[in-house]
Amino acid sequence: MRFVDLKTQYERLHGSINKRIQAVLDHGQYILGAEVAELENALAEYVGANHCVALSSGTDALLITLMALGVESGDEVITTPFTFFATAEMIALLKAKPVFVDIDRRTYNIDSSLLESAITLRTKAILPVSLYGQCADYDAINAIAAVHGIPVIEDGAQSFGATYKGRRSCGLTDIAATSFFPSKPLGCYGDGGALFTNDDILDECFREFRVHGQAGRNHHRRIGINGRMDSLQAAILLAKLEIFDSEVAARRRLGARYSELIDDAFSDVGTPTPVTTPYVEAHNTSVYAQYAVEVPNRDAVQAAMAERSIPTAVHYPRPLHLQPVFAGLAQEPGNFPAAEEAAERVISQERRDCEFQSPRVIDQRTGHNLLA
Ligand SMILES: Cc1ncc(COP(=O)(O)O)c(C=O)c1O
Repeated sequence: MRFVDLKTQYERLHGSINKRIQAVLDHGQYILGAEVAELENALAEYVGANHCVALSSGTDALLITLMALGVESGDEVITTPFTFFATAEMIALLKAKPVFVDIDRRTYNIDSSLLESAITLRTKAILPVSLYGQCADYDAINAIAAVHGIPVIEDGAQSFGATYKGRRSCGLTDIAATSFFPSKPLGCYGDGGALFTNDDILDECFREFRVHGQAGRNHHRRIGINGRMDSLQAAILLAKLEIFDSEVAARRRLGARYSELIDDAFSDVGTPTPVTTPYVEAHNTSVYAQYAVEVPNRDAVQAAMAERSIPTAVHYPRPLHLQPVFAGLAQEPGNFPAAEEAAERVISQERRDCEFQSPRVIDQRTGHNLLA
């Protein structure tokens, strides 16, 4: 059994995917065709938001929302140092300053108890990430943000399908961004992303920013980008949505099964290794975009896994405040100890060609894959 196997998934869905792709080829409206609007309605309903705007990638979703909020030079946006680079990159691209707040050591998400002290008069937005498929503590974050009148943007690129206190990721904050990169919990066959909001004005802004700031044909009210999702990707996502609930359930089942079995497997790879399996808050469900565990001797574990042809990856080996490009922020090791320690210890399954490898937990006596 594979955690995410795009080929098997396609075999399961090929009738529906092919039919929907053929429909696009037949009508020929490749850009912002009917599929895009249909997908936006379906996704908005799925997460419980009034509006969804389908976009060209998760990165563009972050960029467009920051542009729509008017983030610019001199502004600060609070985020986590332990995330994929794009989160802070889009803040910096607009010449604003990413202000990092350390993470909760167990969930890897921004530590809401540290948020208040990072807020200044320049804070334009708070951009927490729902890392590895689990939502951050949005009730606490929203409450602090509301006191200061600051919008909260969920970076839900890894958490689409996850729930927080019974509500879905991307329906929890003023704005949410997600990614449909092929290996994401809901993935298309190229790049794709979306923004969600309940705010009618923001929805209109997002739509304008994704088409060069156009309010109507050849009528440009803003400087925007080309951030559209194409109709073929929307068609593919519509087909995948049909089975998404069952895939989310399978992810939860497999994640729990990994956690049950993985301890044994790791004790057999070289030196006995204490493994910290993912911690999921009782009020959360995770979609395990990455199934990441912690080990104290990561290099040895990676080498032992490689010997058994089990590819591994590290998301993320260097926290963002220590990335060379952010040297200007004058951060140094020790400033965000939780993120730094996590970055030294986490290890997860490698994706190959946007496809997770078949997970294997080998019973050393029989040589059988316990997850098969
Ligand atoms: C947390 C996070 N934010 C943003 C992105 C960017 O999404 P995309 O690759 O669709 O641009 C990713 C993608 O990996 C991500 O994991």
